[in-house]
Amino acid sequence: MQPTAYENILVEFPAARVGLVRLNRPRAYNALNGPLMQELMDALTALDSDDEIGCLVLTGSDKAFAAGADIAEMAEATPVELAQMNFIHRWERLREIKKPVIAAVSGYALGGGCELALACDMIIASETAVFGQPEINLGVIPGAGGTQRLTRALGKALAMEMVLNDRRLSAGEAVQFGLVNRVAPVESYLQEAIDLAAAIAARAPVAVRAAKDAINMAFETSLAAGLAYERNHFYALFSTEDQKEGMAAFLGKRSPAWTGR
Ligand code: HXC
Repeated sequence: MQPTAYENILVEFPAARVGLVRLNRPRAYNALNGPLMQELMDALTALDSDDEIGCLVLTGSDKAFAAGADIAEMAEATPVELAQMNFIHRWERLREIKKPVIAAVSGYALGGGCELALACDMIIASETAVFGQPEINLGVIPGAGGTQRLTRALGKALAMEMVLNDRRLSAGEAVQFGLVNRVAPVESYLQEAIDLAAAIAARAPVAVRAAKDAINMAFETSLAAGLAYERNHFYALFSTEDQKEGMAAFLGKRSPAWTGR
């Protein structure tokens, strides 16, 4: 896939089968205005449907992953205007991305920025990362998943403190509480995320997508229904060439060559 010109994001291809999207509104700490979110969703959707890509990385700058929704854009909006501009609804497209998305987070991940990171499948944080939901300071609450995903990830007590009283998490706390996969120096967090993405992108693509889908179902359903869902994915993978190849390679004591079919 050739790089596409966007105004608020950059799309790069830093490693084999890895697509990197960089939020790029440095003067506003990557505040997530409508045009940026539209471009982000378009870029992620395009990468998701590109067979050459196996895993996605989403990042901001070293100073800020994103400082939230654009306050200037929404300050005077009415509820009807917010609904008409699909202000938050367009975020739903993130849930439709089938390939894994790894957030590489440095600096501020506040409000919608924190929610954007939480909507990704894994997070690699730099030592300077700060996660928070400061919407209460603006007289509102998180609107793109903060109350739901923080509660699932951290439990009720800490989620309450973050959302009701702007308690922020350092990178160290975020890894301690299981919100992020690991913390790396600011010089290397992005490369760590790219390396992780490249490693996942080198695996059997259909199984990777099935694995993501099955894990995410754990947040949507009962254990019994989730187990049945997982089992069905397991059985279905026996219709793929990659399952035959993976098991033949193991038995033949050789490395598998995946085709994604
Ligand atoms: C619009 C923003 C912004 C934001 C920063 N800027 N955050 N613009 N929306 N969310 C702009 C500032 O206006 C300023 O522009 C420039 O970025 C630099 O910001 P400063 O405040 O001067 O920098 P600093 O003192 O270093 O403080 C950084 C900061 C602070 C801690 C990140 O900017 C801040 O608290 N931002 C708001 C964080 C927040 O409340 N997020 C939640 C938003 S509500 P100028 O032009 O003056 O230089 C939300 C709801 C989500 O996210 C709902 C679902 C989508």
